[in-house]
Amino acid sequence: MDKFRICGGRALHGTVKISGAKNSALPAMAAALLTDEPVTLHNIPKVRDIITMGRLLAFMSATVSTPEFPAESYTIESKSLNDAVAPYELVKTMRASILTLGPAIARSGVAHVSLPGGCAIGARPVDLHLAALEKMGAQIATEHGYIQARVPNGGGLKGAHIVFEKITVTGTENILMAAALAEGVTILENAAREPEITDLIHLLRKMGADIQGDDTSILRIRGVSKLHGAVHGVIPDRIEAGTFLVAGAITGGEITVANCQPAHLGAVLTKLETTGVHVDTVNPCTLRVHAAKKLVASDVTTEEYPGFATDMQAQYMALATQAEGTSVITETIFENRFLHASEMIRMGANLSVDGRRAVVRGPAHLSGTTVQASDLRASAGLVLAALVAEGETVIDRVYHIDRGYEGIVEKLQDLGADIERLHFPTS
Ligand code: EPU
Repeated sequence: MDKFRICGGRALHGTVKISGAKNSALPAMAAALLTDEPVTLHNIPKVRDIITMGRLLAFMSATVSTPEFPAESYTIESKSLNDAVAPYELVKTMRASILTLGPAIARSGVAHVSLPGGCAIGARPVDLHLAALEKMGAQIATEHGYIQARVPNGGGLKGAHIVFEKITVTGTENILMAAALAEGVTILENAAREPEITDLIHLLRKMGADIQGDDTSILRIRGVSKLHGAVHGVIPDRIEAGTFLVAGAITGGEITVANCQPAHLGAVLTKLETTGVHVDTVNPCTLRVHAAKKLVASDVTTEEYPGFATDMQAQYMALATQAEGTSVITETIFENRFLHASEMIRMGANLSVDGRRAVVRGPAHLSGTTVQASDLRASAGLVLAALVAEGETVIDRVYHIDRGYEGIVEKLQDLGADIERLHFPTS
């Protein structure tokens, strides 16, 4: 299990190029199951979750161009898809495996997908995905830890009027993909509006799907009998971009964040401005962050897009430890997403957590120690805290960060950070 060793205290300067969005690439790869023609995807981030999704699709009989090593482009061809199984061994390492459920049942009328179970940040049920598919005519049983989904009498899914009780990102993606091949019209209300959803709609449209309602919470999908192959480049990763903006702000440096989509970063940019950080738009896909003269505390509440993303909460907490005053951070999306807080306290942060609320008092003098990463974004928060801490921090369990940040060590080194990966071969 690898670790990161970081010596803090250096201001970061230079340019970083943002990779493709993991959370766009994963549903795009799953969408390839909807057709027997090849789907070619570009701007894929070289991260562990993509390898896992490639393996999963290969297990489900798809031909995947590079199933075992990361690549910027993938071609996936799913010539036939019968009795597709998404096994526990793969699903347990990546909850996004649930994204194969909608396409598999829509294409072949049957799917067996392991229940993802809980994870560090919360219970994360998939009941809304299942209830929506049932409304579309699927019969679903959960047996032996698997979701066994089948459309009775060898038929196909039917369009339905679905109202999500709660906004769910992968739930919206699953139903979009299922409805694209269902008979008739599906109306999906209270749909997620994340840019990754719009990106998936763009891909599905290239494949021949009939979808209206981009960027709104009501999607209207008229199913077609067949989808075809397509070529698509996924959008830049807004969370990686936000993480590097915070890296510039927290270290008192100046970073040019290239190949990003500023329009997807609205709530993060507004929050950074409130804390005194200046971010300029250099051109339509480049931002430049300048250190604040003084970081000022500001409260934040995580929300669904276009609100402040839960995936930026840990990074913001690191920044808040350096801001003058009290910042109240309220996490509304996941019930247990403050695991990084106790590690930041060990580094000297002055903060307390009460349920879904964290109170951070700053500025605090952080000092390096050994800390443990608990999930992907928590790891990013700890890396940011370590960049500003005095002395050496060793971050354990960085496999979490490898799931979703492409080349983070190299990118930070290029910006002048004193960071290295320590390799510990697994026995
Ligand atoms: N929920 C239910 N029932 C469901 C589905 C969701 O109660 O059937 C609840 C969840 O437990 C949670 C809330 O609804 O409390 C929102 O969950 P959502 O379904 O939107 O999350 P997700 O689709 O599982 C995606 C991202 C996450 C990101 C969240 C929220 C992907 C692959 N994952 O997860 O990304 O945090 O949306 O924006 O798109 C990450 O990249 O680190 C990550 C965790």
